[in-house]
Amino acid sequence: MLEALPRATFSLLAGSLTLKRLASRYGMRRTSSFARRFIAGEDIADAIEAAHAIEREGLLVTLDLLGESVVTSEDAARATRSYIEVIGEVERSGIDRNLSVKLSQLGLDVDRATGIDNLRRLLDAATPGNFFVRVDMESSKYTAHTLDAVETLWGIGYRNVGVVIQSYLRRSKDDVERMNRLGIRVRLVKGAYRESRDVAFHQKTAVDAAFVELMERLLLGGTYPAIATHDPIILDATKKFAAVQGIGQDKFEFQMLYGIRRDLQAAFASEGYRFRVYVPFGREWFPYFMRRLGERPANVGFVFRSLLRDKS
Ligand code: FDA
Repeated sequence: MLEALPRATFSLLAGSLTLKRLASRYGMRRTSSFARRFIAGEDIADAIEAAHAIEREGLLVTLDLLGESVVTSEDAARATRSYIEVIGEVERSGIDRNLSVKLSQLGLDVDRATGIDNLRRLLDAATPGNFFVRVDMESSKYTAHTLDAVETLWGIGYRNVGVVIQSYLRRSKDDVERMNRLGIRVRLVKGAYRESRDVAFHQKTAVDAAFVELMERLLLGGTYPAIATHDPIILDATKKFAAVQGIGQDKFEFQMLYGIRRDLQAAFASEGYRFRVYVPFGREWFPYFMRRLGERPANVGFVFRSLLRDKS
């Protein structure tokens, strides 16, 4: 019965501050061991251990210190400091220097200036060690601000920053063209938030068709795009398009989320493609976990069974 819950329910749960606080207070081990399938752990040490294991399989990583929707400037400054500490830990560990961050975690909801200032602070700390920082894309209320923030920082000379574009948004063709013109690196995803029909396609076929069209635009005119999906048909279409167009394997990369389709991840790497795994970690894991449940109703059954097992 739980598996029949609509995706919208998970979006609502993901946005619940009370559930988020409870989940981080009681910790991942006590609330859901199933969350460990999608989240490397609560500490940077867990993420680094997971990253080492992934890299041993010939894959690349990007680390995401989970967090979003920060509403005070103090919390935004704290989140920025935590990210800067992650930079030091990653340098010491020797793993790939690649981070993913949400602008609402750095203070976009406090005000735009706070979000941009904190992103700039993070890029300043990331630049000397040659880190790449990808700004994740959140719900459509943030799309324009996120793209503007990245473009502003790009305009003043930051080159170690990229962004994400979601194929379910109707506006994305223009956004891809804009990023291609500027030379800003794009990660293409389908999109994980609940959106209205005015701004987003709701039909899977339309989202998938838009993804393929945007993938082609990025491969032809973009700068080292990342094609981020677990969809085997689209993965195949990307490989074929690149081969037909003579686009080398070093001109783009594939990306997947930690814990999903591990079989495909290893297979792609063995074919010589660059393949990056998105490794989320941290105490603020609840909204991320809810979005992953919403993408695949069968996951809810797994969670339910793992909760029952943990209790017995
Ligand atoms: P689709 O949902 O059609 O799934 C294709 C197949 O993949 C499924 O049939 C299943 O086998 C498998 N699968 C997908 N999701 C699964 C799950 N949760 N559990 C188990 N199996 C699953 N979104 C966003 O809005 N902003 C962002 O910044 C990012 N960033 C990001 C980074 C990376 C590296 C990835 C791979 C994805 C994101 N996303 C994201 C999430 C993205 O928008 C999308 O919600 C998920 O990738 C699921 O969509 P698919 O492209 O996999 O296709």
